[in-house]
This record gives sequence, structure tokens and C-alpha cells, in this order.
Amino acid sequence: MEIKRYLQERKGLIDDFIETYISNSNIYPEALRESMAYSLTAKGKRIRPILCFAAYEACGGKKLKSILPFACAIEFIHTYSLIHDDLPAMDNDDFRRGKPTNHKVFGEAIAILAGDALLTEAFYLLSSHSNISEPNSSEIDISSDTLVRIISELAYAIGAKGMVAGQSLDILSEGKEGDIETLASIHKKKTGALITASVKMGGLLANCGIDYLKSLTRYGENIGLAFQIVDDILNVEGNSQRLGKSVGSDEKKQKLTYPKLYGIEESKRKAKELISEAIDSLSSFDQRADPLRGIALYLLEREK
Ligand code: IPE
Ligand code: IPE
Ligand code: MG
Ligand code: MG
Repeated sequence: MEIKRYLQERKGLIDDFIETYISNSNIYPEALRESMAYSLTAKGKRIRPILCFAAYEACGGKKLKSILPFACAIEFIHTYSLIHDDLPAMDNDDFRRGKPTNHKVFGEAIAILAGDALLTEAFYLLSSHSNISEPNSSEIDISSDTLVRIISELAYAIGAKGMVAGQSLDILSEGKEGDIETLASIHKKKTGALITASVKMGGLLANCGIDYLKSLTRYGENIGLAFQIVDDILNVEGNSQRLGKSVGSDEKKQKLTYPKLYGIEESKRKAKELISEAIDSLSSFDQRADPLRGIALYLLEREK
């Protein structure tokens, strides 16, 4: 299947699940519900849940609807991270996913709380998945041990040694010289960790073996770092309309980025190298891993 069509079809499943969640969720007060829905239903690429699907399918998984709550929990976490990343105390950004940022519309307090709620709901979705699968989907066959492993991997990836550590380092490095080790560590933690966890989750949901899980981990780490390098490049030479967020903000905030330390051309070369490394790590997979290969190449060319 052509990669554009694959992305579009998987995105459709995710968008539908999120719409259903929002309409059935009975979240009160209304302001909290609206704030969560505002950012969740905005135009995101859904690349992390799609990676979870693609890894699941690469390992032979076929019950796409059954794994939707897992894939969407990842998108809830990612959306929380964006709302908090944009806050005045963090990157202080005004636009996200083509719209004013959450705090611009709902105020800082509700934006913070919507982020908190999305993070917490993600773990509720993961741990109560059997209650919320679509009526006609057959349940997937995972053990309680695997479920705990999935929850643990994800929690580790986004917590004090993962995404939150990366975000802290990112903020603490503003306006400083910074070295290449710190830079790589920021990018691997703030962005690479959740992307890697998304890929691993797909493998674990398909009950894949240890060798496949290692290959998926290598794939995830490489595309994860490349993803943030491309984000840095787009912040310099991207189109803000197409991206749905502001450009030039990294330089203004004196962020530690790849273009800052390496220049644009070398940053592009590094991203390319990481993507071919990612594709190489899938050598033991058959054609069912083609979507993973296609996504890796797409990430290099993306304009949003
Ligand atoms: C933006 O992520 C934040 C980063 C970690 C670079 P995405 O580029 O995946 O944003 P959406 O979800 O498509 O809006
Ligand atoms: C975002 O990094 C990382 C997380 C949200 C965890 P950036 O701050 O570089 O991403 P954008 O450019 O605002 O999307
Ligand atoms: Mg940031
Ligand atoms: Mg930001």
C-alpha cells in the first residue's frame, strides 16, 4: 500500500476513536471537556499511534480496532505534552495545530488541568481497555503481564528519566552554549522516548519475540532522534501556515538545537543517516514492515 494512503487510513481510525471518546466521555465541568477536546481534535499527524499500528502489523497483528485504545492513549499523552510545552512558563507559543494554543483560549489554569487530565486518562484507557473496545471488535489476546509491561514501558518513557527529563533539560539549556552530548540527550528524551515506546508497544501487543523487540527499539530510537532534528530544521526553514505553529521561535528563545550546533546542511545529513539506520534495523522483517519503512522515509520529507 502506498504510504500516504496507509497514513490516511490509520489516521482515520484514530480520529474516529477520539471523536467517540469525546462525545461519550461525560467530562464535567464543560470547560475541562472543551479544552481537552480542543487540542485532541485539532489537526495532528497522529504519527505516534500510527507507528504503534505499523509495528503491530509488522509483527503479524491484525486486530487493528482492538488496539485502538492503546494507540490512542499514546496520542492523549502526546497532546498533553504539547499543551504544556506551549505554556507561557515553557515555550510560550501562540499557535499549535493550526489554531491558537490551548491556554490562549481556555486560560493557563484550565490548559494545565486539561494536560493533567489527558495524561491520567491515557493510563485509564490502557488499564481498562477491555471495557471500551468497539462492540464488533474481537479482543486481543494479551496477558496481564504484557499489559503491565506496556504500561511500565510507557510510564518510564514519559517520566522523570524520559520525556519530562528531556523537557527540563530543554528549558534549562535555553540561552546557554550547550554541547552535542546534552543536545542529543535532550532530543532523545523529550521526543525519542515516546516515539520508541509507541513502536515497542505495537510489538508487545502482537506478542513479538525478543529479537523483533530489539530491532523495533533500534528503529524507534533512530527515527525518534531524526524526528526532532527535522522539527528543529522546520523551525528554521518551514512554512508556519503548513506546520500550524510558529517558526523562528527556537532562535528567539535561544534553544539548543541541531541547526544551532551543526548548521542546517549537517543537520539534514544526520537526519538522513538516522533514517537509513532505522530502515537497516528492520532487515529481519518481511514486507509486513513496509509501512514502518515508508514512515521512516516520510519523516525525512515531511513539511508539517
Ligand atoms: C510536535 O510533534 C512536537 C515534537 C515532539 C516535535 P508532532 O510534529 O508529531 O505534532 P502533531 O501531533 O502532528 O501536531
Ligand atoms: C516538543 O519539543 C517536545 C514535547 C512536547 C515533549 P519542541 O518544543 O521542540 O516542539 P514544538 O516545535 O514546540 O512542536
Ligand atoms: Mg519545547
Ligand atoms: Mg515547543
